Amino acid sequence: MQSWIPFLPESASTLSGRVDALYFYLSGVTVFFTLLISGVLIFFVIKYRRRTPFEIPRPIAGSHKLETLWSIIPFLIAMSFFVWGTRVYFAQYRMPADGIEVYVVGKQWMWKFQHSTGQREINELHVPVGRKVKLIMATEDVIHDLFIPAFRIKADVVPGKYSTQWFEATQTGRYHLFCAEFCGMNHSGMVGTVVVMEPTDFDNWLSGNANQQSASSAGQQLFQSMGCASCHGANAEGGRGPALQGVFNGQTQLNNGQVIKADENYIRESITNPQGKIVSGFGPIMPSFQGQLTEEQLMQLTSYVKSLGSNQATGPATAPAPAATPRR
Ligand code: CUA
Repeated sequence: MQSWIPFLPESASTLSGRVDALYFYLSGVTVFFTLLISGVLIFFVIKYRRRTPFEIPRPIAGSHKLETLWSIIPFLIAMSFFVWGTRVYFAQYRMPADGIEVYVVGKQWMWKFQHSTGQREINELHVPVGRKVKLIMATEDVIHDLFIPAFRIKADVVPGKYSTQWFEATQTGRYHLFCAEFCGMNHSGMVGTVVVMEPTDFDNWLSGNANQQSASSAGQQLFQSMGCASCHGANAEGGRGPALQGVFNGQTQLNNGQVIKADENYIRESITNPQGKIVSGFGPIMPSFQGQLTEEQLMQLTSYVKSLGSNQATGPATAPAPAATPRR
């Protein structure tokens, strides 16, 4: 369904209508004032042109009424951009609590996707229509930016942290995805396709690719092989290091008294820079794993810690079943 406006991408997510409406409002206001000011300008140039060589204009002393008016009206118009834009911004960047999670790794020059059930894809992302999809994104090298025009979503993927965005597709089909941050020689080739499917087709697709290990069970293996278990316990029940069960998404008290939310970025930071935020009651004994793990492995470990249950749950969760979707 192509729009009557040239170059406008298809509208295929719950957000795209809202982004378009704001965009049309901004364009409309701009066109209106451009025409109004140009029209008045031309009118005045003609009406008040110099008619005799010695004509001197009448002096104008100013008008508080006019000045107040032309300050307040533009202020209100500018604030309408701000308030409307903020609402759309929060709708896009505040992550919904529910929805399926997909891990994204940008790398010169490809997009790697991993579903929480384990299926991996490169430069292709299969998703169901009518369900929220949360993208948890990292990069192996430089800054990339995942842009899906038909969904009107776009976010930088920055080294050293996770960034997130989400969408809910409203119609099936194939849509372009791009890297929208110049990232080196083959930046223009860092493109791919989002395939939006009916939920039953998506389930078939998932089960047709079910031979891959889930992110959290891969993370559990890493947890053992990298030696995490020697301090955090074989089942992450704690020891010389803090217990990891039930930590995710809860409040964690640090040894400097600060209380922080144990989100994905905190878990990632605790692996790459353990001295940065030390849990209250523990010493700075953990070595940094910076440079020893790929972004995908970091995501697998993060996913494992998430699978150990969140703080909202009552009681510690047991070890995750393989191929489980993240519990909430
Ligand atoms: Cu990655 Cu441009």
